[in-house]
Amino acid sequence: MKITIVGTGYVGLVTGTTLAELGNEVYCVDVDQEKVRLMTEGTVPIYEPNLEEMFLRNIQAQRLFFTTDLQMALKQSEVVFLALPTPPGEDGSADLTYVLGVAEQIGSLMDSYKIVVNKSTVPVGTADKVRSVIAGKTNIEFDVVSNPEFLREGFAVEDSMNPARIVVGCGSERARSIMSEIYRPFTNTGIPIIFMDEKSSELTKYAANSFLAVKITFMNEIANYCEMVGADVDMVRLGMGSDDRIGHRFLFPGIGYGGSCFPKDVKALIESGHQSGFDFQILKATEKVNKVQKTILVDEIEKFLGTLQGKKIAVWGLAFKANTDDIREASSLDNIRMLLDRGASVTAYDLVAESNVRKILGDQISYAPSMYEAIENADALLIATEWPEFKNPNFGIMAQRLKNKAIFDGRNMFSLDLARQHGFYYNSIGRTTVG
Ligand code: UGA
Repeated sequence: MKITIVGTGYVGLVTGTTLAELGNEVYCVDVDQEKVRLMTEGTVPIYEPNLEEMFLRNIQAQRLFFTTDLQMALKQSEVVFLALPTPPGEDGSADLTYVLGVAEQIGSLMDSYKIVVNKSTVPVGTADKVRSVIAGKTNIEFDVVSNPEFLREGFAVEDSMNPARIVVGCGSERARSIMSEIYRPFTNTGIPIIFMDEKSSELTKYAANSFLAVKITFMNEIANYCEMVGADVDMVRLGMGSDDRIGHRFLFPGIGYGGSCFPKDVKALIESGHQSGFDFQILKATEKVNKVQKTILVDEIEKFLGTLQGKKIAVWGLAFKANTDDIREASSLDNIRMLLDRGASVTAYDLVAESNVRKILGDQISYAPSMYEAIENADALLIATEWPEFKNPNFGIMAQRLKNKAIFDGRNMFSLDLARQHGFYYNSIGRTTVG
């Protein structure tokens, strides 16, 4: 099948590459000429494990093309996926300018039946809006489908080649049968495809992300309570998660959820509710608890050191989670800003995300080329991202380099026994403080 993807951001690029890998001929359209040129030459514009190999393979096989020419791409293909940004507007609601702008162009340029598939995360009712914008520009028949994306950054290739489910919101039989065709390689292997109306599909995406944000936040509150009463959240987590109605995943407490999705989607769902006169009380509480959770360790560091004024704090990890260079809504940034405000200096280390942080914080902080250089002469270490290289450090080197043997761990990387064995002061989330 020939398919067009409009937008080569995270979702568009991964979707395009995946659909090419499944044997389709895919035209990825973007307005950014330089980006299109680089991708055509084989440069992947994002950091994502295992993507480059699949990307290059499909370019070489002449199944994956990049262009700025939407008209040409539309001529080639019956199905057009929209993978466009939906940034939060001032009130937190999703801004549909890009989605509706491209819908209008499609309406003007199309010369035969098209299925316009929305992959972007969009509020309930967007399919109707897209439909009416296109209908305002053409008399040619078309269908609008909602097909939300559930992949995680850092696992994009794994998630997109092996999705838990495929959700398709679609009111037309013609579109339904073409969508079934596109996803047949998956459904053939037993992956479920769930057809529903467009509104339910649009809401499924927000409900799924918001639920996961609530799940994490609930665990963060349980963790904070564990510390107060002397329980161990890791034990509670295992005990709870063993009930398969709860499950083990997304029960890891930490320094709050971040990234480009959960914070934005929780906010957008609250705002959508608000616009319909509905009050999402759980989501409002989740936002509030998460905001506090993000910097919960700064107070602990201050308490330990007496003051942050003039202290040097090392930060391991800047990305909002491991396996990505994405720093959007990363807890590391909230922590660093608060540390600087309270008079500390910060030396940070993150091999992958450093260049993105440099663009925002510049020389307000120092950047170390390795995890051990970051802690040289530091008064304390804060761990903000669960990069695998932090999991099994050389505690001997750490003890030599750190001024105080003090670790504040927002990701519960080490066992309490290990910290005890090496004589560290170790303050983590939801567990007894060692030392
Ligand atoms: C999330 C969803 O997991 C995807 O299913 C969805 O497709 C995606 O948003 C999206 O809407 O595009 P992502 O933002 O890549 O994916 O990251 P997650 O792995 O879900 O992590 C989000 C945040 O929660 C991170 O800050 C992470 O550190 C935190 N987290 C996650 C926890 O604090 N505890 C956990 O147990 C799990």
